[in-house]
Amino acid sequence: MAAAKTILRSLAGETLPTPPIWMMRQAGRYLPEYKATRAQAGDFLSLCYNPELAAEVTLQPIRRYGFDAAILFADILLLPQALGADLWFVTGEGPRLSTITTQADFDKLKPVGEIDAVLNPIYETVRILRQELPQETTLIGFAGAPWTVATYMIAGRGTPDQAPAHALKDENRELFEALLARITQGTIEYLSKQIEAGAEVVKIFDSWAGSLKGADFQKYALEPAREITAAIKARHPDIPVIGFPREAGDGYIGFAKATGVDCVALDNSVSADWAAANVQVDGCVQGNLASSHMVTGGQALIDETRAIVKAFSGGPHIVNLGHGITPDADPDNVQRMIDAVRGQ
Ligand code: CP3
Repeated sequence: MAAAKTILRSLAGETLPTPPIWMMRQAGRYLPEYKATRAQAGDFLSLCYNPELAAEVTLQPIRRYGFDAAILFADILLLPQALGADLWFVTGEGPRLSTITTQADFDKLKPVGEIDAVLNPIYETVRILRQELPQETTLIGFAGAPWTVATYMIAGRGTPDQAPAHALKDENRELFEALLARITQGTIEYLSKQIEAGAEVVKIFDSWAGSLKGADFQKYALEPAREITAAIKARHPDIPVIGFPREAGDGYIGFAKATGVDCVALDNSVSADWAAANVQVDGCVQGNLASSHMVTGGQALIDETRAIVKAFSGGPHIVNLGHGITPDADPDNVQRMIDAVRGQ
């Protein structure tokens, strides 16, 4: 049997002498080749739904840097669109969606059984990627976590404090929970289809998990992640799941045990030493270099990268950023980070 791919080995709990690397938003606007392909597609959503071009931008950072994993090029907001929400992107501002604040808004959503009519091109991108990726590169599929997706569906846009979603939770808990349940079921189907098309790992992005406190964190971050992971594992027992409850703080402790995920992705608000002692004790972790180093570079980038690798060297670790790389990052700094990890 051929040696397993590096990321799959880390996810299975192996401690590797050189940890594998990929980066959130590794296909993105900091790369000139991404901007060229996006211009060819017309706009961001047209790029997401064009399997040939979406596969092309997924492959670009693999060709340039030889990352250990590729992440499917798509977006967490495609699922709401498949459920019937209107979705568009305002240049320089971000996503806009039709809002869900009343029972009547919710009743207009489509059943989960109908999402593939919109999402089929995404599965086609996955199939193309499995054909075209180098043998050693792992393909990661993904979806948003129900809470994070709901924050966009309720507010109709990104919000600094997720206030509209918190308000609906407090004012109409039944509707809020019905929405979360619909997203949870949709996510299970969406991720399963990505796996059937060839995704080897799936990641659940809960970018706004940090704004859920106490019992709300249990009910709306932990519990949906557990439910999705259990359903995926029941259908596809060999597919590892990465959870990313961003800015969970103490909520990172025990997250893997409580949800069944194989790896916890960490943002950079927690120190690597703390996370090694409190999170990595339960298994693989991913992270957690501040993405600002990709803009500023210099010796601080090298020192911080090495410090993170060292802090996590006693257990399974996948090197990544604490959040996505930003459009103002210098592509040469990405190479410097990779060289620092691989000891060149
Ligand atoms: O990581 C990757 O390279 C894979 C593709 C990917 C994208 N979005 C492409 C994208 C992934 C995994 C996502 C996840 C995503 N999308 C999240 C969770 C992770 C996170 O960042 O917290 C969220 C919250 C979204 C929703 C979203 N999509 C927002 C808020 C925005 C606008 C902000 C921005 O960066 O412009 C997007 C747009 C988006 N998604 C871009 C990319 C490459 C930029 C679009 C462009 O090319 O103009």
